[in-house]
Amino acid sequence: MSTNSSRDFTVVLLPGDGIGPEVVAQARRVLAASAAESGASITFREGLIGGAAIDATGTALPDRTTAACLAADAVLLGAVGGPKWDDPSARVRPEQGLLAIRRALGLYANLRPVRPHPSLVDASPLRAERLAGVDLMVVRELTGGIYFGDKGVEALPDGSERAHDLCSYDTAEIERIVRVGAELARQRRGRLTSVDKANVLETSRLWRRVATRVVAAEFPDVALDHQLVDSCAMQLVTNPSRFDVIVTENMFGDILTDEAAVLTGSIGVLPSASLGAPRAGTRMGLYEPIHGSAPDIAGRGIANPVGTILSAALLLRYSLGLEAAARAVEHAVWGAVSSGARTPDLGGRASTTEVADAVLELLESTVRQPAAR
Ligand code: IPM
Ligand code: MG
Repeated sequence: MSTNSSRDFTVVLLPGDGIGPEVVAQARRVLAASAAESGASITFREGLIGGAAIDATGTALPDRTTAACLAADAVLLGAVGGPKWDDPSARVRPEQGLLAIRRALGLYANLRPVRPHPSLVDASPLRAERLAGVDLMVVRELTGGIYFGDKGVEALPDGSERAHDLCSYDTAEIERIVRVGAELARQRRGRLTSVDKANVLETSRLWRRVATRVVAAEFPDVALDHQLVDSCAMQLVTNPSRFDVIVTENMFGDILTDEAAVLTGSIGVLPSASLGAPRAGTRMGLYEPIHGSAPDIAGRGIANPVGTILSAALLLRYSLGLEAAARAVEHAVWGAVSSGARTPDLGGRASTTEVADAVLELLESTVRQPAAR
């Protein structure tokens, strides 16, 4: 395994299904170029996950893939899933691969930044004045809750069925994710909103008690408020600029981040980072765009690579510790989008490769000057 000080990193690429391979190929070019500009190098390895892995090996997450990821500094994933594997009665499903890799790598903290870029306000269905000043970060708990609790379906005597999915959280799981949220709030505008359903759910009442205690004891400088998830869903579209950092449990975070994606104009531009415990100043992480595998446009060369390229920027920042390189990539991406390098989801005509070409060109011309957005 490489170390940070050697500046020779290993990144595992998991292209997955649908448009995954197309967007990952472009993000790889950007990663390689920006690492080289920082005097670092990246060795890429490729692994199978999702439907592609099911077709090749019969399982959505082959052991080889897990082993390669465990030995790497970071992982960049495209997307998993598609109609081919969608049979609800199937024993193996592509999504199992994603859930299993999150669990196997201990990636409990999912960071989803949402900051609508000024050049894209017209692409959002929300009015421009609502979007002014929106810069929020959702911190979603990723390895607990209803996603990973006991599940089952049983036949009832009358011939009908009953199914269940258990939601549970323990104190330690809540403490560690609240700390991630509070830490980020401290580096940003100092406001943390903990989202739950404490008027109904026992897990949410525990969540609220733990969040209150951790922030009071360890983050007195962070202003904490609590919000019910239904009300938060409404405020995300009526008053999104009120939020700084949102911390919430696994399923609420899944739903709220698709909703928040609408603020940016296209789900195709949103990145995410899934992080494990800190390790020598950086963190093992898996990076992926928020969008899915988009089977309807797969293979046509028109998928938006921005979400994956911005995920690569988060990879440079959080797992490789290359903050300047991360900023340079973000700066180049928005420069390219502002100057019209846009795929059809953003109303443009550029291909996936042309958008990445524009990003690379700007990266090469601006990387030596300090980037500011
Ligand atoms: C996400 C996705 C996944 C999730 C699916 C594909 C399992 O919706 O990353 O938000 O629900 O976590
Ligand atoms: Mg989701």
